[in-house]
Amino acid sequence: MRTHYCGQVTEDHLDTEVELCGWVHRRRDHGGVIFVDLRDREGLVQVVFDPDRAEVFATAERIRSEFVLRIKGCVRRRPEGTENPNLTTGQIEVLGHELDVLNTAKTPPFQLDEESVGEDVRLRYRYMDLRRPEMLERIRTRARVTSRLRSYLDAHGFLDIETPMLTRATPEGARDYLVPSRVHPGAFYALPQSPQLFKQLLMMSGMDRYYQVVRCFRDEDLRADRQPEFTQLDVETSFMDEDGIMALMEGMIRELFASELDVDLPPFPRMSYQEAVDRFGIDRPDLRIPLELVEVSDLMDGVDFKVFAGPAKDPKGRVAALRLPGGGDLTRKEIDDYTGFVGRYGAKGLAYIKVNDPAAGAEGLQSPIVKFLTAEAISGIMERTGAQAGDLIFFGADKAKVVNESLGALRVRLGHDRGLVEGDWRPLWVVDFPMFEYDESDGRLYALHHPFTAPQIDSVEQLRDGDPELLLSRAYDMVLNGTEVGGGSIRIHRPEMQQAVLGLLGIGEEEAREKFGFLLDALEYGAPPHGGLAFGLDRLVMLMTGAGSIRDVMAFPKTQTASCLLTDAPSPVAEQQLRELHIRLRKTAEKEGGSA
Ligand code: AMO
Ligand code: AMP
Repeated sequence: MRTHYCGQVTEDHLDTEVELCGWVHRRRDHGGVIFVDLRDREGLVQVVFDPDRAEVFATAERIRSEFVLRIKGCVRRRPEGTENPNLTTGQIEVLGHELDVLNTAKTPPFQLDEESVGEDVRLRYRYMDLRRPEMLERIRTRARVTSRLRSYLDAHGFLDIETPMLTRATPEGARDYLVPSRVHPGAFYALPQSPQLFKQLLMMSGMDRYYQVVRCFRDEDLRADRQPEFTQLDVETSFMDEDGIMALMEGMIRELFASELDVDLPPFPRMSYQEAVDRFGIDRPDLRIPLELVEVSDLMDGVDFKVFAGPAKDPKGRVAALRLPGGGDLTRKEIDDYTGFVGRYGAKGLAYIKVNDPAAGAEGLQSPIVKFLTAEAISGIMERTGAQAGDLIFFGADKAKVVNESLGALRVRLGHDRGLVEGDWRPLWVVDFPMFEYDESDGRLYALHHPFTAPQIDSVEQLRDGDPELLLSRAYDMVLNGTEVGGGSIRIHRPEMQQAVLGLLGIGEEEAREKFGFLLDALEYGAPPHGGLAFGLDRLVMLMTGAGSIRDVMAFPKTQTASCLLTDAPSPVAEQQLRELHIRLRKTAEKEGGSA
């Protein structure tokens, strides 16, 4: 229907006839001449209708925003002074001599170039929202990123293999989305949280190198970088250790950034989980922010201030300091706001010291807490934090988990609020994760990665004899600017080790058989050493496009409450459909008068 895309008509086409199709981006009447910015996927072009052609002009007078047009016209140079250097087509315009209105459009629910459109409206009219050039650009970038990643893996001998969507519950630890079976009354499939077990089985099948761009489903609390269905670039290889896998994956991301963004990423440093948590309070540190947590627990166990002395003496407690260079200018109100902010992470307060003269002991400091501190504690704090006149030092004291989470978040917040973010891209690998995390509420161990991750020891005896909480795993995460973009591990490939690890997780032989019998069986028939990793494709594209949320790089995302405003999913279904699926709904609490 057309000879060119609107956005691709340039001076090369001067004095030729073009046929174009697209949407009316804007229509302006100018002293008897009508200007239409016609838009398609490739951009905008200015089309001019003048009254000489009465019939065409009359049609042009009727057109409105977002009408769909087909035009025929002649390309000419724009009059001097009216060029638009921001457009590829900015030097030319098309003098329209034929005009078909292919379709009309109602008044749009929002102007495409309006800045502050509510996200609900955007999601409800997503097909309009996606017409906005910046959305289109992100979706295109996403397609290109996927294609580049595929090319890299194809070139490195990986096979693209699909795995089932209707499957058994998988072990990533979120809630499953279930699908009832009509044929098997009372039985359910689960949608995969990841293809983890299938990709391991593919290694046991001898496929050697696998990848898949695959949808994963997790029923968990949603955030800016979490959706109930999201896409992984999932990878697994055989006969390769963690160094090999990390090098291959780092190479892939480096190539991607070079080709897509023309960015030469710095080499990815490796940092242990413990170091990350100690210095940044979190296992996915944003290294662009030059602030660090400093351990001061050992300075505080003797001080006359319970808030600090308690956690300092508690083996699970922590007292840490966070120096903000030049922070002495913070107002009382700002400090109160930050205190409220850390409160969201469970912190019960936010002690601080304003430093006037770091060498003058308590005299040189301004703070509600210095009066409780010993001279040694004060000089220790000054020395370790490297405090300078004009700085402010924050303190967190609590269970280590609370201190790490609250000061870790405060660090990032201060970095942004104070304009301290340095550089564009700071990737790293986080390694040496603990195998297990102990949950005090139920007294059980949980796998920090997943139960198929290999420990950093080879024998089952060592596993049984050691303290499981001290055991490290062969897992690795790729972190970029404070976001975990990917994670993986070397897997267990011996059945007795797998049984032992499941045992430590409180999964007995019977339960293990029932849940993962197929995997345990496969381990008995010659499983090669193997490992892999999965990238969150949405997160990667979010970072690369500078989007504020993964919703902005997905064509049809869901809301914070996991609903689709476009289709109104999820929705009730007909009684007949439920009956076929052998399902009867429980009465809701509301219908039972709140008694259920
Ligand atoms: P993991 O659970 O760490 O590992 O997931 C891998 C990556 O997927 C992304 N991700 C998400 N992105 C958007 N929304 C979500 N709800 C969401 N959850 C996770 C993250 C994360 O790094 N099978 C293992 C991988 C392996 O061991 O090979 C797995 O799924 O970027
Ligand atoms: P209080 O003695 O409760 O008035 O607290 C004195 C100072 O310590 C205030 O600045 C509080 O914000 C701070 N504070 C209280 N609890 C904590 C805590 N758990 N961690 C860090 N600072 C705290």
